[in-house]
Amino acid sequence: MPRDRAPRWLRSAPGDTAPRIAYGADYNPEQWPREVWDEDVALMREAGVTVVSVGIFSWAHLQPGPDTWDFEWLDTVLDLLHAGGIGVDLATATASPPPWLTTAHPEILPVTATGETVWPGARQHWRPTSPVFRAHALRLVTALAERYAQHPALVAWHVNNELGCHNVYDYSDDAARAFRAWLMARYGDLGALNHAWGTAFWSQRYTAWDQILPPRLAASHPNPTQQLDFKRFSSDALADHLRAEREVLRRFTPDVPVTTNFMVMGETRGMNYADWAAEVDFVSNDHYVRPGPQAVDELSFSANLTGNLSGGRPWFLMEHSTSAVNWQPVNRAKQPGELARDSLLHVAHGADAVCFFQWRQSAAGAEKYHSAMVPHAGPDSDLFRDVTRLGRTLDALAPVAGSERRPAAAAILFDWESWWAAEQDSHPTSLLRYRQEALDWYSAFLALGVRADVVPSGAPLDGYRLVVAPILHVLPAPLAERLTTWAERGGHLVTTYFSGIVDENDHAWLGGYPGPLRDLLGIRVEEFAPLAEGETARLDNGGTGTLWTDRVQVTGADVSVLASWTTGPQAGRPAITRRPAGEGSAAYVSTRLGAEGLPGTLAPLLDAAGIAGELPAALRGRVELAVRGKGDEEFWFLVNRTDEPVVLAGLDGEPLTGARAGEPAGTGPAHVLDPRGVLVLRRPAAAR
Ligand code: GAL
Repeated sequence: MPRDRAPRWLRSAPGDTAPRIAYGADYNPEQWPREVWDEDVALMREAGVTVVSVGIFSWAHLQPGPDTWDFEWLDTVLDLLHAGGIGVDLATATASPPPWLTTAHPEILPVTATGETVWPGARQHWRPTSPVFRAHALRLVTALAERYAQHPALVAWHVNNELGCHNVYDYSDDAARAFRAWLMARYGDLGALNHAWGTAFWSQRYTAWDQILPPRLAASHPNPTQQLDFKRFSSDALADHLRAEREVLRRFTPDVPVTTNFMVMGETRGMNYADWAAEVDFVSNDHYVRPGPQAVDELSFSANLTGNLSGGRPWFLMEHSTSAVNWQPVNRAKQPGELARDSLLHVAHGADAVCFFQWRQSAAGAEKYHSAMVPHAGPDSDLFRDVTRLGRTLDALAPVAGSERRPAAAAILFDWESWWAAEQDSHPTSLLRYRQEALDWYSAFLALGVRADVVPSGAPLDGYRLVVAPILHVLPAPLAERLTTWAERGGHLVTTYFSGIVDENDHAWLGGYPGPLRDLLGIRVEEFAPLAEGETARLDNGGTGTLWTDRVQVTGADVSVLASWTTGPQAGRPAITRRPAGEGSAAYVSTRLGAEGLPGTLAPLLDAAGIAGELPAALRGRVELAVRGKGDEEFWFLVNRTDEPVVLAGLDGEPLTGARAGEPAGTGPAHVLDPRGVLVLRRPAAAR
């Protein structure tokens, strides 16, 4: 990400001289009559809004027919916003092709694995690889870029919207052609492809490129490497679309930063954002909380990973919700304090912009029950008052803007390819969940009050003392070598079941698992023995394993068995091992211990690595700490993880906001965190 593309959205208001945390929403004025727009801008000013994303779903309004354009309404909207001191993150409007286009060109519509057409009627009904769609989309982007290049409200470009949210996997003939081209570039010749795909199996050997198809509905399990490559290709095909729009924008406005909103959240997995991060001028993300016992941990995990995809630099929270969404089975409203807590937790992990979907709750359409900054009830509502209060809180946090994440001593490796491959079909179990395992480790760090960064697997590890690589299933030799060298030079590696199993072609490493990590770990696994749903097995350290067991054989003389099985298929055998390796160590956890069970395993590993929590002991686990810093000052974000007030004793610093949740600094009792409260302390940088 080029550093010279400074985020203009940090200084969005005319006359702003210092950066501040941007605040706003998706703004869809085309859903409302003209007279509402003036009220919108007045209310935005009242709420402290500094930036809005405009035009995301406006294609049909901007281009009512193949050769007719209507920009006047958008001119008015941009002028009004600018006059109101509000910056515009202008969307390229390509997310939802209009009916005239899909009628004239039904060949742009995606096709499912079972051959069904994905019809228009919702949104994102376009094939990422359709040359016809691409041409129409770029024509629109060109028209927008030409018209608004010099508009003073323009602070950023927003390519499409949530690329791949609904259309990441397309199995059409366009996709088949593009997949073949992608495979030719990857493998060069059919011999290499036949080897990589293991086509000696089940008579799948290809003798011409045009025999190759996407993994459409097949009689049984489709070829696993074909499936993995199709996932890689599908992510790349969307990234290619991103690049195509970006290049048009850069031609007209080389100084305006370009982004697209990622979806680092929950089980959304189709896009390899570790690759995508280099394609945008600043990273932005959308995040929606899913209810459940780890809901807030998951928010923190996603924000943390987003911050690390951004290389520690500030990023833009493009969407989250003020309260309920409309797409879960039951859409719960947020409790008092949750709106501010959720927003500030993103800021804690590096967000310099806090935006919502959307500004005004729609009166019609599929999202009319989705919360917004201005609800159906109007501005005379608790929700709008909360929104306005959050605007003031973000103002008070202006000193934080532009500061970077301060790295932790520990990290969790996150690997999209392992996520994709580990959960494919025809495996030892269908119950394994890659992201859940990573999240459980993150919850364990939170429970112990120790900061951990969630970093993409390609990130440099030099600064970390302990790295957990959960289910690092796809382990190409260079990554195995990098981990081994890092451990031998003093790093403490922790890895788990189903790690180090296959190479980049999804071919099993032979000679015993975990392939290239066997020597480092000093163990050899001969066979997996997963547990049935609901089945448990006990460890002699009091822990309980679910999901998985391995037949672990200790091969290194210097291996310590930290826990053994007392019940289950491996009774009497090692369950958790650790071995000194050079200056560092390597530990192996052969089962799923879950968020509840992992702290007991992690605590001694942290001790051995010399890592302790940075908060006073009484606060660890009850309060999440995230640290941002600028020069020699730091901002400590303290987030109450409990449903009780927490008294913060033994912590110095100047409170910027949050002595009590939602109250400006200094008005509440000092250093008491309400349930769901967030306190931000400005402090001199700690020596680490
Ligand atoms: C996002 C999308 C928004 C809106 C939102 C609702 O996926 O970008 O347009 O639909 O979800 O939660």
